[in-house]
Amino acid sequence: MGLPSLPSSLPTINLCSKGRVLVRVDMNVPINRDSGEILDDYRIEAHSKTIKYLVDLGLPVVVVTHQGRPGDPEFVSLETHAKVLSKYLGMDVRFIDDVIGPRAREEISKLRPGEVLMLDNLRFISEEVIEGEPQKLANTYLVRKLAPLFNYFILDAFATAHRSQPSIVGFPYVLPSCMGIIMEREVNALGKVLNARGGVSTVLIAGGAKVPETVKAIKALLTKNLINKVLIGGLVGQLFLALRHGNNKLLSNVKVDQGTINDAMDVMKLFSDKIVLPVDAVQSDGKVIEPSNAQSMLDIGPGTIELFNKHILTADIAIMTGPLGLVEVDQFAVGTREVMRVMVDNAQFTIIGGGHTIMSARKFG
Ligand code: 3PG
Repeated sequence: MGLPSLPSSLPTINLCSKGRVLVRVDMNVPINRDSGEILDDYRIEAHSKTIKYLVDLGLPVVVVTHQGRPGDPEFVSLETHAKVLSKYLGMDVRFIDDVIGPRAREEISKLRPGEVLMLDNLRFISEEVIEGEPQKLANTYLVRKLAPLFNYFILDAFATAHRSQPSIVGFPYVLPSCMGIIMEREVNALGKVLNARGGVSTVLIAGGAKVPETVKAIKALLTKNLINKVLIGGLVGQLFLALRHGNNKLLSNVKVDQGTINDAMDVMKLFSDKIVLPVDAVQSDGKVIEPSNAQSMLDIGPGTIELFNKHILTADIAIMTGPLGLVEVDQFAVGTREVMRVMVDNAQFTIIGGGHTIMSARKFG
């Protein structure tokens, strides 16, 4: 099958004209590792706005997302996601446990105006995790099998927009495309930070388990002088503490490559006055201990909460990406909760990102 030809410039999309729409959302939600239950459906509810808009225009809509990463307990099929989406849309969402096979393609071609079909987890197709140039990714089976069935592509997956993967950059290469409502809202919110001018101080609270991505982001934001301080916890914090204190025990449950270690060392060397690391850690046995002796850091300790909050109190903008502890367990959610509380009560503008961070914010009210 040949690729559809690339338009010389993307036409302005008039979505009022009839045509089948492919919407790439990010419904990658926290999942209970034992029961498979969805722990927080905020992302599904949020994307339902874009989908509802298209349904109301009378367009046939096909929704695609990834969920988890191959090999992770959160890497699951999307039948339950489709049921949750049905609930938020107030209409039936058809689900097919296929992505590019003949059954999926047949269901797509049978779709009628105003109907919604959800395909299965995009990452069931191994090509989806390839990162590369848009032109090359437009040539993957994933894009070549699906694109000819659609008239338009909408990218609403803000939380995955940093990935140069087929479903993110391949489809816009071959289909008239635009961003969705969530994408637009997030770009506008982050624009406030990127466009903030002198005198505005921004603090980043960086945690979570996505260590390589977060270290890269910290380095880029500091290098571009977009943030004034970074307060680091979670597994990302464990890496920095391990390097600072030469405590290798803290590395035992952190997956990192040499490139990430080098990036973290660069950050510590070049921006030592801008990074703030935990001064105490809560271990798995609940004991609060100095980072140089800690076996693990399942949460930041009370001394660190106080230290982090002191910095947040002097900031205008506070951004949190990733929780500061194992928030799924109440005992280890204290640091994240207390820091979020001070962010929300004091910063003029707060941004939070990441499935587990959103889940925590909603849980803490
Ligand atoms: C996220 O939750 O950060 C996004 O869904 C991206 O997921 P990924 O890091 O597995 O690509």
